Amino acid sequence: MSIPVLTFFNNKGGVGKTSLIYHLAWMFSLLDKRVVAVDLDPQANLTAAFLTEDAIEGVWNSGQQGATIYQCVKPLAEVNDIAPPILQKISPHLYLLPGDVALSAYEDTLAAEWPKSMDDKQLYRPMRILSAFWQVMQMAGQQVVADIVLVDIGPNLGAINRSVLLATDYVAIPLGADLFSLQGLSNLGPTLRSWRKLWQRRLDNWRDNRESGERPEFELPEGRMQAIGYLCQQYGVRLERPVRAYDQWVRRIPARYRETVLEEQAIAGMMPENDPYCLATIRHYRSLVPMAQEGRKPIFNLTPADGAIGSHANAVRDAKRDFKQLAEKIAGKTGLSH
Ligand SMILES: Nc1ncnc2c1ncn2[C@@H]1O[C@H](COP(=O)(O)OP(=O)(O)OP(=O)(O)O)[C@@H](O)[C@H]1O
Ligand SMILES: [Mg+2]
Repeated sequence: MSIPVLTFFNNKGGVGKTSLIYHLAWMFSLLDKRVVAVDLDPQANLTAAFLTEDAIEGVWNSGQQGATIYQCVKPLAEVNDIAPPILQKISPHLYLLPGDVALSAYEDTLAAEWPKSMDDKQLYRPMRILSAFWQVMQMAGQQVVADIVLVDIGPNLGAINRSVLLATDYVAIPLGADLFSLQGLSNLGPTLRSWRKLWQRRLDNWRDNRESGERPEFELPEGRMQAIGYLCQQYGVRLERPVRAYDQWVRRIPARYRETVLEEQAIAGMMPENDPYCLATIRHYRSLVPMAQEGRKPIFNLTPADGAIGSHANAVRDAKRDFKQLAEKIAGKTGLSH
């Protein structure tokens, strides 16, 4: 049995993916779930949220095989196999596989192997490379007996993200309340369906191939990519715009999600607050954000010593309640709560 992989995905940038993964990873660990967070965005923002700059520099400069996601897959692009991941222990139940700015170099390797994986011979190398992220995630998860792997990626539809999505069982879609997010949502459904179909063809090609029996066998991801819902951001790029502008976009999300991601009929009058596919509405945490970044801790763990006093203390309590609800909802949708 493989360990479930959950990815937060939207090709629209700045919608809170990294921040959500960071907080959710912490919340799951506080709820006694064992978590591996994997930073597959070459910008490495998730890594920067968990580790100090000195620690990151140490990991990157070590050049040690397995020390970052790139150092795990790099040997494969040369002549060796995947290097086992070296995880950073963040807390007793929470581990990080650090990201790496050098990961962008793998984009070309993945793009080159994609068509080769449909050839009728020599499929071992392309399939091994295309599934490398999944192999690494599974190794990482097994190492620490994880309940779930949480993955952060950058905002694009490139070859790295395609390989991550092939490795993904469940997809959650964070959204801003604006035209760009709504438009991004329309691209996501067709992209996920296309990647799912193209990966299925590759799995069939691999199984039917006449080489089978002669080549080394290994497990491959199913390419499930099941959309479990969306999250609405209450804050935005233009913070001070009127509530009306927020409402205008947010009310269109439930219909657009059903039609484009699920290919279901829209339900008239459905609003996010009543929509079972709306996993959460994310509040604007204002000054708690820099406070938490400085303390290198999740917003809901801020204390008076960090400056969370008065109304801030109430906001910390609200954040804890909201993220607990979100984690429980996601646990339910990913089979973790059993
Ligand atoms: N709930 C929130 N309240 C206030 N600010 C937030 C909240 N969540 C995220 N932010 C801020 O919004 C910005 C974008 O968030 P984040 O980096 O998580 O988005 P992203 O989707 O990962 O971006 P990218 O597409 O660049 O990877 C960051 O500066 C972050 O601190
Ligand atoms: Mg990010």
